[in-house]
Amino acid sequence: MADLQSIKNRFGIIGNFPALNRALEKAIQVAPTDISVLVIGESGVGKEFIPKIIHSESKRKHQPYIVVNCGAIPEGTIDSELFGHEKGAFTGATSTRKGYFEVADGGTIFLDEVGELPLQTQVRLLRVLESGEFMKVGSSQVQKTNVRIVAATNVNMMKAITDGSFREDLYYRLNTVQIDMPPLRERKGDIHLLFRKFAIDFAEKYRMPELKLSEDAVSYLENYSFPGNIRQLRNLVEQMTVVEQNREINSVKLAEYIPMNAHLPAVVQKSSGGSTGSDFGSEREIMYKILFDMRNDINDLKSLTSELIKNRGNADLSSQEKNLINRIYTPEAQTTNPNSLLFFENNNQSEVHHPTIISDNDEHHYNDVEDIEIEEAKPESLSLQNNEKDLIIKALEKHKGRRNRAADELGISQRTLYRKIKQYNLED
Ligand SMILES: Nc1ncnc2c1ncn2[C@@H]1O[C@H](COP(=O)(O)OP(=O)(O)O)[C@@H](O)[C@H]1O
Ligand SMILES: [Mg+2]
Repeated sequence: MADLQSIKNRFGIIGNFPALNRALEKAIQVAPTDISVLVIGESGVGKEFIPKIIHSESKRKHQPYIVVNCGAIPEGTIDSELFGHEKGAFTGATSTRKGYFEVADGGTIFLDEVGELPLQTQVRLLRVLESGEFMKVGSSQVQKTNVRIVAATNVNMMKAITDGSFREDLYYRLNTVQIDMPPLRERKGDIHLLFRKFAIDFAEKYRMPELKLSEDAVSYLENYSFPGNIRQLRNLVEQMTVVEQNREINSVKLAEYIPMNAHLPAVVQKSSGGSTGSDFGSEREIMYKILFDMRNDINDLKSLTSELIKNRGNADLSSQEKNLINRIYTPEAQTTNPNSLLFFENNNQSEVHHPTIISDNDEHHYNDVEDIEIEEAKPESLSLQNNEKDLIIKALEKHKGRRNRAADELGISQRTLYRKIKQYNLED
């Protein structure tokens, strides 16, 4: 059996946090068996290392290893992808096709985002887990396969079971052994180690001097909540490696990228601590939803006031009103840093229009604005969108159009990537 350190070296896994070590050790330990394993942890914590370790340390290692992102396959085709189909099973099924469970016979299948599986697929999956039996779509002939399953999820499975969107019997079948991957915010001691590793990697990749952290920057990162975990840290280091002139990063600089939001951490940090950390996912989703709703409300209000002002005419405004308007609309008044939103499932912002008030002096003297002018400006989100679009194009180019890899690199789900590819007309 391989030891922990050699596994870390082989897979490039950084960190010494006890819960991380326990997770890796558990993977090494169960690898030689055929037990199904469920990996639980927030997005970006490194869940994908676990099935790779398990496969490579098992007797199946020379057989196929297949990764299926259950959240990325459309509901209509997932059964056929997993189990294959007969010729003529549905329109467009012009020939018989083997599914992953047939192709991976003797090997391992990693079912990522397993909580996203449609119920009808869950039934088929349960059967194959229990008896090794399955049928192609459109066939009544039972086939046998011998596949080891490792599944992963970042959603609260207990909640999915209560909601009726996930079968309880399947959950227990998948979860013979559970491996919890701790979120980065709990692994404070590992943050600087990871930063250094990524700083070295990206310095080499972009042929730039390596980034260093000042002391206050280290403690800033250690107190940050990292909703996107290691993937977010990695993307942050990559961005800063390319963009920042000054190679020593301090906390002020970090705050431009990842602002410490005074209202967020209380909720954000409350979670986890427990074994799974999976509550965090839904809490975070709710928080982001609230934030984006608020943001949209604010933008609506801005549009409304700008309409009102336009109708009334600039000249009629009292200087007090002008001050107020200027405060709302000057860029300094924006509290949200676009960088910080870049890697989350944001949006809805595309239709927002609001005016910019141009003051004729360069600095904004809020108390002394006489002549203000209102003009329809570009939507605030435009530069953010351009940035995002560029990043998506780059990621797609880098991965030669392979969307799963590009999505991984960007730290967004494949679904979000598909949506954005559509939104920005990047399909071809
Ligand atoms: N301990 C670690 N050391 C080095 N890189 C890591 C570590 N954990 C995660 N990563 C990197 O972070 C990114 C996200 O990991 P991934 O396994 O895709 O997350 P998840 O599947 O949990 O969303 C990947 O680029 C991965 O290589
Ligand atoms: Mg993943």
